[in-house]
Amino acid sequence: FAGSMYDCWLRYEICDEKVLDEYKDYFKYIVVKKDNPIINNAVDELKKALSKLVDDAKVLRHMIESDCIFIGTLDDFESEGLYVDLEDELKSEGFALKILKRNGKNVLSIIGGSEKGVLYGVFHLIRSVFGGKNLEDTLCIENPQNDFRILNHWDNMDGNIERGYAGKSIFFRDNRIVQDFSRIKDYARLLASIAVNGVVINNVNVHQQETKLITDEFLPDVAKIADVFRNYGIKTYLSINFASPVEIGGLSTADPLDDGVKKWWKDAASKIYSYIPDFGGFLVKADSEFRPGPFTYGRNHADGANMLSEALKPYGGIVIWRTFVYNCMVDWRDRSTDRAKAAYDNFKPLDGKFLDNVVLQVKNGPMDFQIREPITPLFGAMEKTNVFMEFQITQEYTGQQKHLCYLVPLWKEALDFDTFAKGEGSFVKKVVNGSLFGARYGGIVAVANVGDSECWTGHPLAQSNLYGFGRLAWNPDLSSREIAEEWVRLTFGCDKDVLDTVVPMLLESREIYEEYTSPLGIGWMVNPGHHYGPNVDGYEYSHWGTYHYADFKGIGVDRTVATGTGYTAQYKEPVAKMYENIDTCPDELLLFFHHVPYSHKLKSGKTVIQHIYDTHFEGVERAEKMRDAWITLKGKISDEIYEAVLERFDIQVVDAKEWRDVVNTYFYRKTGIKDEHGRKIYE
Ligand code: GCU
Repeated sequence: FAGSMYDCWLRYEICDEKVLDEYKDYFKYIVVKKDNPIINNAVDELKKALSKLVDDAKVLRHMIESDCIFIGTLDDFESEGLYVDLEDELKSEGFALKILKRNGKNVLSIIGGSEKGVLYGVFHLIRSVFGGKNLEDTLCIENPQNDFRILNHWDNMDGNIERGYAGKSIFFRDNRIVQDFSRIKDYARLLASIAVNGVVINNVNVHQQETKLITDEFLPDVAKIADVFRNYGIKTYLSINFASPVEIGGLSTADPLDDGVKKWWKDAASKIYSYIPDFGGFLVKADSEFRPGPFTYGRNHADGANMLSEALKPYGGIVIWRTFVYNCMVDWRDRSTDRAKAAYDNFKPLDGKFLDNVVLQVKNGPMDFQIREPITPLFGAMEKTNVFMEFQITQEYTGQQKHLCYLVPLWKEALDFDTFAKGEGSFVKKVVNGSLFGARYGGIVAVANVGDSECWTGHPLAQSNLYGFGRLAWNPDLSSREIAEEWVRLTFGCDKDVLDTVVPMLLESREIYEEYTSPLGIGWMVNPGHHYGPNVDGYEYSHWGTYHYADFKGIGVDRTVATGTGYTAQYKEPVAKMYENIDTCPDELLLFFHHVPYSHKLKSGKTVIQHIYDTHFEGVERAEKMRDAWITLKGKISDEIYEAVLERFDIQVVDAKEWRDVVNTYFYRKTGIKDEHGRKIYE
């Protein structure tokens, strides 16, 4: 097996010879007129891919009387007398693949709305050829549904990655920026292949050293990273420390309304842009989990974000302001505070107050990237503000890249959720792409899951989540299955057994993980701090505001208006009613919204306690089955990947049993209710 874990989905192994025949005639010549870094990278990629298929693909700078591939932007086609009439149809990052006729010859044309469009078009062709898609289905006109498709790296300059499960940072080491950029280039290439167009290189928690990334000390090196990314159509962003004027600027305040502070940030922006003319902007975690922010000065989030946005505006930069703001010093005895309500309570009153180059970045769920949460109600509520979706690819609460958990179904659920903000059909995906409320900017962001591990993601199958994120951010209408199939084909080839084994495995992995961990939307139950492994009361008496309230009679958080925290009122009707009413609240979120007795009957007909037992036994059985299925693939995929994945399935099965037994025993001890099926529960 050629290729390795390192190549991910860019292995370029022939999948289906028959399909290939349809393309081959075009592959002898690549005609390209422009000569600039992005186009040259596109050409290099195509050459690399085609070298696996034809002996010697030639790159020409002029048209030729032969079948060929012609890649370029609209003006390149016009200059060859090929009028494609796509001006109104192609967005700048969009592309079209067409067969055009020229002097009786066929020209397989990749037409980009811009150079980035060309690059994405080339990767589309490559994906199709090596994914076994026939030519007719490959021809298309495609535009991104989200203009911003950004990865957030929670990388610290000491080389550690917060919530990283795939080794050390590829950007930083020993409090400096790495000097060998080859891995970053390989990363840029991977990201361009899934049309990611922005990268925040440092952690949202900006510590002392990272605060200096916006100074002369580090900007020359940040600029080198930006150069690498730029050539793949990717903009570089930085997370900033709101208290920078004090911490590194020598000012006595970071008050956003202070003239000295405003000037300090304007000067900082001017410096950054002198190094990086297309710098993307700032990502800001402020007044959240002990990070500084405008509250210290009696100002609000809009004051803080707008001050920064004015500094970036002259250069076209944006401020991405996170809404992950809540009281993390709650007294667990105090039942009046509900963390789930915090984002809405903090930001809804500010709708319309943000300048137009500010974007709010909102986590998909109101708590924190749990295996099951409802959608954050803020998505239907900010009618006059740009919002981005924030997902978490790194599997903090979803198995830490030891367990298999394909997250695309979870993300799709969020994007397909109907907020009813403007009546039926007001899907979250329309909110975040800007179309529902006519926002200036729209996008989907995710916390990256890569590090310097050989396969980038620790668990080789976790590559599917990175791949899936990019594909979904480009087109949220792709199905979880389509994305899974694409990824499996490109990563492992078209062997039917591999496809029939790995695709279903991916698709059910999230449900399996949910089964043996925390039930019915309640979340947490993890060990504090590192968040791995079961600990039902791990956060029950802590200050983080994440409780399940299990006692001997029942479990769950009453978030109703009638008798609980009133959280359900943050949704629009009929969503609010659906959650408020225990009869219409979906089973899988029951304990998120309601406190119920263990004998409460679910729509499935089972009691809550029996559901807990059943799912925990079943989850382990299904995890074991995944492991068994994987073993049948020995010899069909590279040994390297086979062994690496098997090692993780072994861990998953052992740890799933731990989850099962801890959770079942906990509830058995609380309730004294026996399992109807008499299975082993430790007393
Ligand atoms: C979670 C995570 C933190 C992270 C935070 C955030 O709480 O555990 O590591 O900093 O989210 O999103 O800011």
